[in-house]
Amino acid sequence: MEAKDSKLRPRPPLTALPELDETDSKYKELILTLPKDEERVKHRKYQGFWYSERHLPGILAMQEVFKPRPNDVILASFPKSGATWLKALTFTTMHRDKYAFSDHPLLELNPHDCVPFIENHYAYRDEQYLETLPSPRVLATHSAYSTLPESIMTSTCPIVYICREPKDVLVSYWHMITKLEYLKEPPSFAQTFESFCEGRVHGGPVWEHVLEYYTKSLCNPEKILILKYKQMLECPIDGVMRLANFIGCPFSEDELKNGLVEKIIEFCSFDKLKDLDVNKNEIGNLKNSYFFRKGTVGDWKNCMTPVMANKLDKITEEKLRGFSFTF
Ligand code: A3P
Repeated sequence: MEAKDSKLRPRPPLTALPELDETDSKYKELILTLPKDEERVKHRKYQGFWYSERHLPGILAMQEVFKPRPNDVILASFPKSGATWLKALTFTTMHRDKYAFSDHPLLELNPHDCVPFIENHYAYRDEQYLETLPSPRVLATHSAYSTLPESIMTSTCPIVYICREPKDVLVSYWHMITKLEYLKEPPSFAQTFESFCEGRVHGGPVWEHVLEYYTKSLCNPEKILILKYKQMLECPIDGVMRLANFIGCPFSEDELKNGLVEKIIEFCSFDKLKDLDVNKNEIGNLKNSYFFRKGTVGDWKNCMTPVMANKLDKITEEKLRGFSFTF
């Protein structure tokens, strides 16, 4: 596939992630000592968070080796919280002078190809790819704050974190994993619900993931910006303007007058991205189309019983007690 920026290319399929047996022995030995969860997707608990066994080597290697450039922008999120959208918005905003809408990489590549997950490229042993990307790079991670490389925490590069209401995250996550072909027997919604409540999903528990970034953002508001999926849907103009200011490329008076913010929002909208051929593609294990399902708030009502919703709400209420945070 030819992309507008010759450096960008489609990401490897998830099936290219090595099994634990094929992992570097120094990481494998550490991983084997970690608490294990024997569900259909194998998870291990590392530094307080559960990660899928296949992703852990990449997280460990990223922690040890990754060095950000000072002008990188890091997008962080718990899985299924709106990373695809945030990637599209940030990439388009950051590179608005470089790419015209009519000739844009997002017309040919999925947002996850334009903004790679750092740890995945370490897991694929393809980390050199990250070095080939021109500055300023936009990179992403699902790592918890406490599992980030020290080099990111101490660097000047800004971190933008997007979060979403846990019931919608869970429903989005379940729909995604039911499609993963390497899971011979995808878990039922009830099984996934229990795992999610106990935090045993990739990056889990979701509450701690969010609260770590949130509390760090309070101490260091110039380093971490928290965006909320629901607020972004309700008021995308405000969200994109805050994003642009935060990453150091605010919109000029002329750009505002010309409606550029609205154009970026339209270009990155769910309907627009979902309808692109590249995002309808059925190639690879984690198909591009899987990242565009409904794109709404409140779809949990179609999957969850009131008892389940009540239980999850109670956990959320409990976990957020004492924090001035809401989703
Ligand atoms: P649903 O499964 O509820 O539809 P992530 O990108 O972190 O994997 O999160 C995926 C969720 O974001 C999915 O939610 C998906 O539909 C939604 N999404 C993807 N692109 C979007 C966009 N441009 N605008 C709004 N939501 C989007």
